[in-house]
Amino acid sequence: DRSNYFRQKLLLWHHSVNKRQLPWKGEKDVYRIWLSEIILQQTRAEQGWKYYERFVNQYPTVQKLAKAPLEEVYKLWEGLGYYNRCRNLHSTAQFIAFELKGKFPDTFETIIELKGVGPYTAAAIASFGFGLPHAVVDGNVFRVLSRFFGIDTPIDSTEGKKQFQQLANVCLDTSDPAAYNQAIMDFGATVCKPDLPDCRNCNLKTKCVAFEKGVVNELPFKEKK
Ligand code: ADE
Repeated sequence: DRSNYFRQKLLLWHHSVNKRQLPWKGEKDVYRIWLSEIILQQTRAEQGWKYYERFVNQYPTVQKLAKAPLEEVYKLWEGLGYYNRCRNLHSTAQFIAFELKGKFPDTFETIIELKGVGPYTAAAIASFGFGLPHAVVDGNVFRVLSRFFGIDTPIDSTEGKKQFQQLANVCLDTSDPAAYNQAIMDFGATVCKPDLPDCRNCNLKTKCVAFEKGVVNELPFKEKK
């Protein structure tokens, strides 16, 4: 069916075409995965990249970050904005280093309890860090799924959020959740883009509902503008 086709073609694209290089790709250290996901919450990958590298260099372990003075961490964060994120980053590092003795939580339910970690970030950490079957849902995912499956339920409605989360779970490749999540993020960022989507080079277009109907630029649909 359509979701199996979607998964297979997306993974094929990821393994054979996707050239996107990001410094946290393939990272196995869950501290670094968490760090990258916090930086990327309200920041584009291209901008977050240099911050990630600075943090990893200055604080290669969660213990190093936990022991750093907050003022110093703020300095390194400068330019990223949303300083709550930085405060949460530091206090969560202390929680993990001192309360959990450096052992990062390893289930979705315990990861999402960390300060500054919502459903998206928890799914990213659970899948990238531990191979757990949790599908990420963010703006990229709304856009890719709404177009491919031709769904015009508003993404800012309760019903829409539920519908897209369910669909994302169906599409997820449970045998390699990390690759699947990275694939859909990269696909949304480089092919199925907000403006000027690259449909010409899309290897999913033969079954893409929005492409068939010529409504790619009308999706995803939002209730409020
Ligand atoms: N945005 C959030 N997480 C990301 C990741 N792992 N790769 C690229 N962009 C992202």
